Amino acid sequence: MLWKNHLISVDQFNVEEIQSLFFSNSMIDGFTFPRKKIAILFYEPSTRTSASFQSAAHDLDCKIISINGVEYSSVAKGETLHDTVLTLAQYVDLIILRHPDSEAAAYAASISPVPIINAGCGNGEHPTQGLLDLFTIQKHFQNWNKFTDMRITFFGDLLNSRTVHSSVKLIALYDNASNYINYVAPLSLQIPLSLKGLVPDVYIYPEQIENVLPYTDVLYVTRVQKERGSVAEYSLTHEQLNMLPENSIVMHPFPRPDGEIPISFDSDPRAKYFEQIKNGVYIRTAILYEMLKVNVLSKEM
Ligand code: NCD
Repeated sequence: MLWKNHLISVDQFNVEEIQSLFFSNSMIDGFTFPRKKIAILFYEPSTRTSASFQSAAHDLDCKIISINGVEYSSVAKGETLHDTVLTLAQYVDLIILRHPDSEAAAYAASISPVPIINAGCGNGEHPTQGLLDLFTIQKHFQNWNKFTDMRITFFGDLLNSRTVHSSVKLIALYDNASNYINYVAPLSLQIPLSLKGLVPDVYIYPEQIENVLPYTDVLYVTRVQKERGSVAEYSLTHEQLNMLPENSIVMHPFPRPDGEIPISFDSDPRAKYFEQIKNGVYIRTAILYEMLKVNVLSKEM
């Protein structure tokens, strides 16, 4: 399936498509979609994904129908995902879906007459976050079109963090001969077996993180996904983060509920998580633009 029809997984991309998305014309050709409507259908809490998609939709002059709290919708009356998606598809031109079931977006795409975007499903994937993460790294290191000489450290709940899963799969699309990944996680929260070895990798425990911090270009921290049954306690101190090289970057998809990165580090030039959040609007604008262009304009002309 082409990603411009339904964006479900980063598996739908090749390197060329990623790079052309990153250099999408969405920001320069001024083309907008004032008569198009987009639904935000979220069965799980969200701040950034929801707000950044809405911000992106505003940039494209689209209208938004937002069902951010399904507890106030007919879902509370027992309505199925099937019926909710087919209902919204009568009103809008595209549906952005977040759901606790990792297969929900693929299922919605199989029944929906309008494009579906996976905005994070269960502990599976969060493809638009993976794309904005990759964009943030390539932008900082000016490593466009390629991904070389990178030492990436993923730290935290790697088992249930869908953002990590999408990011690892995206990195794996590049020639990784000169890269490696450190997976730093408690034993019970290590990266899923299916993602192991996609990129040359090393597995260590949180207690050993100081061994790799001085040799890390990108540190990517995630929270404990308590709602998915993960149990652990870990955090990094400002002193530990200071062990990172000068030109490294620290990323986090947020939220950071457990102080896994101290607020005192936010003013450090290596802290890139707020820039990462900002990049989310740029990438999601590009995604909406490319999808609406293909799926809406072509039908109208
Ligand atoms: C993430 C998510 O929902 O998967 N948040 C986000 O979209 N930026 C990360 C998380 O919830 O830990």
